[in-house]
Amino acid sequence: MSTPVLTAVAWPYANGPRHIGHVSGIGVPSDVFARYQRMVGNRVLMVSGSDEHGTPILVQADKEGLTPRQTADKYHRVVAEDLRGLGVTYDLYTRTTTGNHAHVVQEIFLALYRNGYVVPKQTTGAISPSTGRTLPDRYIEGTCPICGYDGARGDQCDNCGNQLDAAELINPRSRINGEKPRFVETEHLFLDLPAFTESLGKWLATKTDWRPNVLNFTRNLVDDMRPRPITRDLDWGVKIPLDGWRDQPLKRFYVWFDAVIGYFSASVEWARRSGDPDAWQAWWNDPAAQLVHFMGKDNITFHAQIWPALLLGHNGQGDKGGEPGPYGVLNLPTEIASSEFLTMSGSKFSTSRGTVIYLHDFLRDFGPDTLRYFISAAGPETQDVDFTWDEFVRRVNFELANEWGNLVNRAVSMAHKNNGAVPRPARPREVDERLKEQARAAFDTVGGHLARSRFRAGVNEAMRVVSAANKYLSDQEPWKLKDDPERRDTVLHTALQVVSDANTLLTPFLPHSAQKVHEALGGTGVWAAQPELREVEDLDVPGQVNPILTGDYGAEQARWESRPIEVGRPLAKPTPLFRKLDPELAETGPEWAPIQT
Ligand code: MF3
Ligand code: ZN
Repeated sequence: MSTPVLTAVAWPYANGPRHIGHVSGIGVPSDVFARYQRMVGNRVLMVSGSDEHGTPILVQADKEGLTPRQTADKYHRVVAEDLRGLGVTYDLYTRTTTGNHAHVVQEIFLALYRNGYVVPKQTTGAISPSTGRTLPDRYIEGTCPICGYDGARGDQCDNCGNQLDAAELINPRSRINGEKPRFVETEHLFLDLPAFTESLGKWLATKTDWRPNVLNFTRNLVDDMRPRPITRDLDWGVKIPLDGWRDQPLKRFYVWFDAVIGYFSASVEWARRSGDPDAWQAWWNDPAAQLVHFMGKDNITFHAQIWPALLLGHNGQGDKGGEPGPYGVLNLPTEIASSEFLTMSGSKFSTSRGTVIYLHDFLRDFGPDTLRYFISAAGPETQDVDFTWDEFVRRVNFELANEWGNLVNRAVSMAHKNNGAVPRPARPREVDERLKEQARAAFDTVGGHLARSRFRAGVNEAMRVVSAANKYLSDQEPWKLKDDPERRDTVLHTALQVVSDANTLLTPFLPHSAQKVHEALGGTGVWAAQPELREVEDLDVPGQVNPILTGDYGAEQARWESRPIEVGRPLAKPTPLFRKLDPELAETGPEWAPIQT
């Protein structure tokens, strides 16, 4: 049975190139998951895009002397290129400045509004006393009233991830000149969160199998919910489709309101581009579909509370009831696969604190699969993890190069040398059958882990097959079997079969090397597909060109099963799969991210 699986990946801000911390919670785990789901035959739709509105873009625009649109254009392309290089197989990686996105956001909003889940309220905004002008939230900082962190911004605390109101900050000050802002009354639209207390609580109560880190976070989420503003005094964002609001120069939706709706709007855009504009319904209206969200832990509130509340409100399923909106009854998230942080020497990876390992530098020097492997095997899946070059070098040299690369190389070169092709096995012994059986059984074990987003366990189990095969070769010593070619061929055939199976098991983690192993085993065509960057015209805004990521994943051959290798298939002399890293890298780091002592 083929299940529709939406792989929904958090939208990176278009405010700079991505660093390896950014992709540890989004790009890598989501792609391992999506590739596995495609391999088992499920109908995967993988969507995301650049988050181009709001404070982070405005701050960056100010820094570079660019307009917000120039900033978004510049970094959307950079981020898309970063993610392409990592091999993330989005069906659609789009952006929040498309005409389609604005339209869908407005439709969802109107459904919420009609159902009574949006309420206008007078609120306090900040004015700069020295200029008399509005002081946007992003220019206010102070102490977080929730966690006490002293660098909290007027919209959000980066330390605890909570959304804030500038007026709630303790000791608020302007980031421009340090003065204390004056707070005045301004009208905003609020999402009536208390009207979801029961419906959201009921839904959350069914989510008993979420990761413990997510469950801990969501446990108390519905106690004491307060209305949340979903508009801001800004001139950059999606316009509010209500009389009296739509033409106001300084009223826009809050960036998080429009961004989470992106999962849905991107699905609609993908469907429109596919030639079947209703194709999104398979993931959003069919209750059998699975919606799996990938993000860092600072995003949990928005995905486990705000986004489900928006969906319930649109569907007319909040505590006040209502009618489903124009998109029918939309599915709520099935799973929130949230990662912790990848840190460097204890501090959160952050451009502002100077400890940055940019993805494009990393990919240029070490290639995508080493990073994918590191994050899968040793990344922040359940707890914060400190990235060290030492650990990276160890994993690449001992696990990827010595264990996996070496196994492929030994098995294929011996068979190439002796037979020039996949040898015909004679009578297999028990030890041969046992190894092959271990590899076959791993499809269930590894698959079970991947289906539940347990990537570390999954990759470890796959690597156990690799170790067992290495031990098998060392024990059977096919290089000493010159006088017994039948036995030698049987051993090499067994080893090649297990290399082939291990390669399949490792494909979601190491898709680029998997393609090479496929070819080393004499295979042709696309084993593991890769995304492409395409320039397409906006569907609704004439003349606007959008770079997107997409790909033809239906053409790939990889399936989650053990496939008998074909006797007689010609083998070429293999080239090394992984280059060993200079051990000195562990002590110095690369020159573009040297280890500070
Ligand atoms: N841009 C946000 C961040 O980097 C994530 C947005 S996720 C979405 O923290 F759901 F809103 F799209
Ligand atoms: Zn805080």
